[in-house]
Amino acid sequence: MNPIDIERRIIVLAGLAAGTLTALGKSGAAETTASRNEHAALIARMTLQEKAGQLNLEGIQSPTEDPWGVKAVNPVERKANLAAAIANHKAQLVRIRAGKVGMVMSPLTLDLMRLAQHAAVKESRLGIPLLCAGDIIHGFHTVFPVPVGEAASFEPDLARRTARASAIEASAAGHDMTYAPMVDIARDQRWGRVVEAAGEDVLLGTLFAAARVEGFQGTSPSNADSLLACPKHFAAYGAAEAGLDYAGAPITERILHSVYLPPFAAAYKAGAMMTMVSFNTIDGVPNTGNHRLLTGILRDELGFQGAVVSDFESEKELVKHGFAVDERDAARLAILAGCDVSMISGIFLHYLPELVRAKLVPMEVLDRAVARLLKVKEAAGLFDDPFRRLDGNRNSEALHIKAHRPLAREAAIKSIVLLKNEGGLLPLAKSGQRIALIGPFGTGDLHLNGPWQPIFTGVKPTALDVGIKAALHDGASLTVVAGSDIEKPLPGGIESAVAAATNADIVLLAIGESNDMSGESSSRPEIIVPAAQQALAEAVAATGKPVIVILKNGRALALTGAVRNAQAILVTWFLGTESGSAIADLLFGDAAPSGRLPMSFPIVPGQVPYYYCHESSGRPTDSATEPFTSHFIGIPNQALYPFGHGLTYGEIKYSTPSVDKIQMQWDGKVTVSTTLTNHGKRDAEETAQLYIHDRVASIVQPVRLLKAFRKVSLSSGQAETVQFDLGRHDLEFITTDLARIAEPGMFDVWISSSATTGTKASFELLAG
Ligand code: BGC
Repeated sequence: MNPIDIERRIIVLAGLAAGTLTALGKSGAAETTASRNEHAALIARMTLQEKAGQLNLEGIQSPTEDPWGVKAVNPVERKANLAAAIANHKAQLVRIRAGKVGMVMSPLTLDLMRLAQHAAVKESRLGIPLLCAGDIIHGFHTVFPVPVGEAASFEPDLARRTARASAIEASAAGHDMTYAPMVDIARDQRWGRVVEAAGEDVLLGTLFAAARVEGFQGTSPSNADSLLACPKHFAAYGAAEAGLDYAGAPITERILHSVYLPPFAAAYKAGAMMTMVSFNTIDGVPNTGNHRLLTGILRDELGFQGAVVSDFESEKELVKHGFAVDERDAARLAILAGCDVSMISGIFLHYLPELVRAKLVPMEVLDRAVARLLKVKEAAGLFDDPFRRLDGNRNSEALHIKAHRPLAREAAIKSIVLLKNEGGLLPLAKSGQRIALIGPFGTGDLHLNGPWQPIFTGVKPTALDVGIKAALHDGASLTVVAGSDIEKPLPGGIESAVAAATNADIVLLAIGESNDMSGESSSRPEIIVPAAQQALAEAVAATGKPVIVILKNGRALALTGAVRNAQAILVTWFLGTESGSAIADLLFGDAAPSGRLPMSFPIVPGQVPYYYCHESSGRPTDSATEPFTSHFIGIPNQALYPFGHGLTYGEIKYSTPSVDKIQMQWDGKVTVSTTLTNHGKRDAEETAQLYIHDRVASIVQPVRLLKAFRKVSLSSGQAETVQFDLGRHDLEFITTDLARIAEPGMFDVWISSSATTGTKASFELLAG
């Protein structure tokens, strides 16, 4: 298909002068009266069918067979034969011209998207531009670490920068909006989608949510190189029972407000104007049909003024939930609840006109939803220039990757977490050693980008062996042996691995999870290294050679046997384009580890959901055996590696924290300080974490709760004092009445290297 030469600067709103529609400010709330009137005028000219059409989101139909060349991430019908594909494509253009499509997703090529946009703005009656969305989760051409990995950097600004780079790349390929960030707090390690979020902690999740929105949207979402952000999945999707994807969230409103809403609130405050509702129920009510959630909480409480999109037919799924009688009823319930746009199912387009005529949906509800979407389109700059992200001039994969590769490497390095480093085994010398690289992830580029792999069509990521070879000096040798498949033994695999280990000085064991063991619909019943690889680890360890485990994982795992007992363990997630090089940088000391776990690694799988900030039990214990106390038989109620844990190549000691006063006035503050000293021989970047515990409160409080953190660079021998201020606001919690309060009394406070280490100080909050 030839690109169509389309005149730029099309003024879409008939009868309006150019530039009268003012792009919305960062808050997303600053709609001008003028633009509101213009939207109202436009809506007044729309037929019922055109209104329903605006609220209809479709996947772009390609006139080619299986355009992605892979099984799609989403169950969009991509298997159509060529003739059907061409027919579908043509039919979609007819629908767009008829004003029956308001949004599209996943533009496969710029040409296809241009064609669709041309049909909308030049060939439809009202010329309203399409808004084009896509899943730009952690990169586009350049692939950055999976979000949970990036959260391990404890550096929201890094996420801001990778989101910015992703927006630059994806906007040049025709996207106006990304279905990101995913801001679901994830506390059940079995849940496959922990890989897409920022881990178990509310503060960390909140800071990363805001940073990612700011990165995607840049100085304004209307910029040609910006993407509108669409925080998802609203809400409590991560609270799925037993970590089973799409299962219900049996939580109270207090927990919803305390744990799951804050990252959304931060994302909206940072300017996000669209949000995606989640598949799950909360306390028995499906979110897509939940008026209290989508209107009472989202709009009235959180002040969200943008538009809500369903998640891939979640509105239609109200029928399967047994919440709606049929699809028509589902469309009615969803729009009345506050879901404005229907993704893929087409049921809004199909049923809304008739539902309005039958007076089952008030016209104002439809008009309001359309107005919200128009506002989002305006914020994306589409009324000003609907082709602003379609000119092709910036769409150079090679240039983007060249520009963003250093950032990909930095992000990958900062995402790696060093769990263990017995005897200072790491970093390794670059010469004079025989290294055996063993395991299914030692070579190849298949499992480096994570579960969104099918959408990354760009450059191949650097494999581990390639990165290691590039780092090694002459005189070092590298033998690469798979030893096992990911889930099955390989014939003769263990024998060849044992032989390689026997002939080596050191073993690098690259084991863990494949791309498809995490992500949507990929919850695992047991969070373990697959049995075949565990057997490989045992056999290799039995050679007695020092073993460094290079763990590939989309979630926190429960490590056992030879994996747990290895001399060193690096958590490397899915690191993207610079995978192999970044790991080699750390292995050989060209860079230093600084990552921290955003999610606890429990001792055994049966502890999940395990998270550090669980509430204080009436029978707490550190023991594994004390009867009638809160622990599983044979193990303490602890993590093997807690939230916040991560080693450096330095040796950091924390002094006991001190408080500048033992009593905090109601409107006062307390300063907590500690001195960090690097007693090691190497420079280090330490992440000092401030935790509190409210000793007595009317709601049982977490044993510890993260309140702040700071990364501190410490050269060998250097000492530095770190200070944090705490005010009453930091001591607040949510009551069962959903009030946010602080209560006078005693508080413990730690500045420590993880959620379970350190010594505490305390102070008293005095009544006001
Ligand atoms: C996922 C969303 C995603 C959407 C569009 C859904 O299945 O839950 O996270 O954005 O598909 O691809």
